[in-house]
Amino acid sequence: MTDALKEEQLNIPLAPSCHVKYYECLPSTNETAKEFAANGAEEGTVIVANHQTAGRGRLGRNFFSPDSGLYFSIVLRPSLNIEESLLITTAAAVAVCRAIETVTKQTALIKWVNDIFVNNKKVCGILCESSLKAGTNQLEYAILGIGINVTTPKDGFPAEISKIAGTLTEETENNIKNELFTEIITEFFSIYTTLTKKEFLPEYNRRMLLIGKTVSVCTAQGEKEVKVLGIDSNFGLKVQFADGSVSTLSSGEVTIGSNTMSQ
Ligand code: BTN
Repeated sequence: MTDALKEEQLNIPLAPSCHVKYYECLPSTNETAKEFAANGAEEGTVIVANHQTAGRGRLGRNFFSPDSGLYFSIVLRPSLNIEESLLITTAAAVAVCRAIETVTKQTALIKWVNDIFVNNKKVCGILCESSLKAGTNQLEYAILGIGINVTTPKDGFPAEISKIAGTLTEETENNIKNELFTEIITEFFSIYTTLTKKEFLPEYNRRMLLIGKTVSVCTAQGEKEVKVLGIDSNFGLKVQFADGSVSTLSSGEVTIGSNTMSQ
């Protein structure tokens, strides 16, 4: 039996004016949240689905979303410009790590910029999509989508992600989805209230999976070997190339390695 989301337990987040709309199945919670936002839904509207048929990942990839996972999207209306919107993704990454550690007692780390790893396997992906106010670079709204592999899917993971995808537990008779959901929402909104102060940046840096490691990055110029040094004050990735030169890469420009595929 799969751990179930319990609709009556979803409306307990501590965040002010957060209200939850639960669906058994949606193509994509990000898509539905976007429709709500475009129709005026207020900040804190959360769309949750027990599974998705067309879950979306970064870079146009699919996100494998069977009912063994947790999938939700939050409507946000922050006073941010598009350059600052990365703060939402990075704050969510820290919030998810904290929640996983509280609920499962396992260490959770961040693979820059939006993947969460436990035991060297990807257990969560984050996708933030924004809409701008006409003629400006100010956000009209942002949709923060979070997908977590909670337990192993009944038919396993598809071959193309089976090496990279991990899960949080094999105990299916517990309340972990509801606990994770509440913890993530609570942790996220506690960071979100002072988002632009970037007080969570040191924690993000501390939680980085690849610090000190040599990895390959895919840039517009092709694949390159770099040593990961950390993040800068704008969450750019500080790296050192083989010739010793140091550079900061932005998340729009690069992905790390070949195993960043979505699920
Ligand atoms: C990634 O790993 O590239 C990001 C994956 C984000 C998946 C979540 S699941 C909830 C929300 N709805 C979607 O369609 N995508 C996000």
